[in-house]
Amino acid sequence: MKGIIVVGGLGTRLQPMTLVTNKHLLPVWRFPMVFYPLHSLVDAGIRDIMIITGGNRPGNFLELLRDGADFGLEHLYFSYQSEPKGIADALRRAEHFVAGEPCVLMLGDNILSGSVKQYVDSFRRQEAGMKILLKEVPDPQRFGVPQFDDDGNIVRVIEKPAEPPSPFAIIGVYMMDAQVWDILPTLTLSDRGQYEITDVQNVYLERGQLTHDVIDCEWSDAGTPESLYRSTRMMHETDFLPPVEFQE
Ligand code: G1P
Repeated sequence: MKGIIVVGGLGTRLQPMTLVTNKHLLPVWRFPMVFYPLHSLVDAGIRDIMIITGGNRPGNFLELLRDGADFGLEHLYFSYQSEPKGIADALRRAEHFVAGEPCVLMLGDNILSGSVKQYVDSFRRQEAGMKILLKEVPDPQRFGVPQFDDDGNIVRVIEKPAEPPSPFAIIGVYMMDAQVWDILPTLTLSDRGQYEITDVQNVYLERGQLTHDVIDCEWSDAGTPESLYRSTRMMHETDFLPPVEFQE
């Protein structure tokens, strides 16, 4: 399984800090933000990882992460998204790298206090389709949100609904098979001018191939001042930290 981490965008909600650096390089507790999704994928057993960058200071990721040896990797791959046109647009840059394998895409500002290995392993056993991960949150209107029927099946997913049909956020960890490469070119721009990953989920849902799990650890995005602060507190309190050592 291939791994992809998306660290593009302009981080406008974190200005002025993001005027001079990339959002995903800001500190969360004692590491740069991007260390956490990279640790999550490596912990889940993924060894082939592409960083898709863009926005501010994209070259800093190469300087910081180099060949991935700090994370026990032999190599890291990098690609570039020239315009901030959404997660599904960024993903298109990884088609050649993924080369028809299943893949897991993780957003660079999604921080987890525990492992996602069990969910990735469960997707490895899933024959086809896509798996998403959910977390109950107090503010689902900020995220992609699933709507359930009476039997607990997802009937659709909605990006940032004004009136959320459930209290769950769809977190930024997406597992997909090779059908995604045929789905991506069919997407159209959303009202916010992006190619939405929720539209990909709805296509898999129509095909009866979208599965989900509710995660059992804490989760935060880190895209606003409040959630960045919450992420730092969360990682201060957990032992699930990148096993990276640096000289004083
Ligand atoms: C993105 C996705 C959204 C998801 C969220 C998780 O939102 O579009 O569906 O719930 O990440 O962090 P964005 O960060 O683009 O607002």
